[in-house]
Amino acid sequence: MSQAGKTKFQIDLRRHLREHYVNENLTHLICEIAEASKYIIHSISTGELGVAGTSNLYGEQQLALDVLADRILRKRLDHSRVVANMMSEEMDEIIPVSPDCDGKYSVAFDPLDGSSLVDVNLAVGTIVSIFEGCDLLQRGRKQVAAVYILYGPRTTLVYSVGKGVHEFGMNMLREYTLLQENITLEPQGNLYSPGGQRNLYTPGVEAYVQKLEDRGVKLRYSGGFVPDINQVLLKGQGIFFYPHLQNQPQGKLRLLFELSPMAFLIEQAGGAASDGRRPILDLQPEQIHERSPVFIGCKKDVALAEEFIRTLENQEEGPTEKKAKN
Ligand code: F6P
Ligand code: MN
Repeated sequence: MSQAGKTKFQIDLRRHLREHYVNENLTHLICEIAEASKYIIHSISTGELGVAGTSNLYGEQQLALDVLADRILRKRLDHSRVVANMMSEEMDEIIPVSPDCDGKYSVAFDPLDGSSLVDVNLAVGTIVSIFEGCDLLQRGRKQVAAVYILYGPRTTLVYSVGKGVHEFGMNMLREYTLLQENITLEPQGNLYSPGGQRNLYTPGVEAYVQKLEDRGVKLRYSGGFVPDINQVLLKGQGIFFYPHLQNQPQGKLRLLFELSPMAFLIEQAGGAASDGRRPILDLQPEQIHERSPVFIGCKKDVALAEEFIRTLENQEEGPTEKKAKN
């Protein structure tokens, strides 16, 4: 290994944040999230897979691990002294932490995304969205940072504070050290990751998929949002979509907990994220648990999806109109 290579692998997360002039409180917050993930991965690797006996807001059965991951993260953020408000995909309301918003952050998180994949031993993840101050119901473009942690064969953490996208790997000492800096996406890719039932696709989305397939684009879908996005990001190409469906005009994925943070990261890598008509980061959330269709990945692939939807779907058939603020 070259000398430069050796130095690169010794940069840990805290040092990387400091070297990118991230302020003390935000550095502390991101490092606390990284700390929490060490307990979450431990629970995933060693925990019981029993059902918690509760169902979440969507009537889905919660595995005990969802509840555990939620508690681990909430406790860590609660004690961090830099959080004003937080909300979790597993909870039905915002959890106030400190009435003093000055210098503090508000955090939305999906503690264990794809948790139904744990029992079949597929990759899952934690997704975190961070805003300055107290307000959590903001457009994604207002985020100051986004982070995800992927619990796969290896545990990796990807973050952005608006200065590029960087990947870290958990080493034997459970420290996150730098793997890749400034990850970027090609303008167009040759893999696609399509969510939702194909026979429920709307005309624009169906024609778009056929166009991709005619181009020889390969299907790569794991069923976990974090590993599927990670694949696009680290392969540097491709598109993930979970579109509006004939019986689900808002698709499946949640704007605040899943889409905004991933859109922030993908845009930072030079890609795009759209609901089929507008950038995800421009959507003004009105409710905590709001969902949105999503097309996210290489810029040209996202633009092509928008073009098919614009051309083949009228307003009523397309994603429900939502206010996009400038
Ligand atoms: O949180 C929702 C989720 O589990 C994502 O991780 C994933 O992208 C999606 O649902 C998969 O949905 P489906 O099971 O409909 O393919
Ligand atoms: Mn989820």
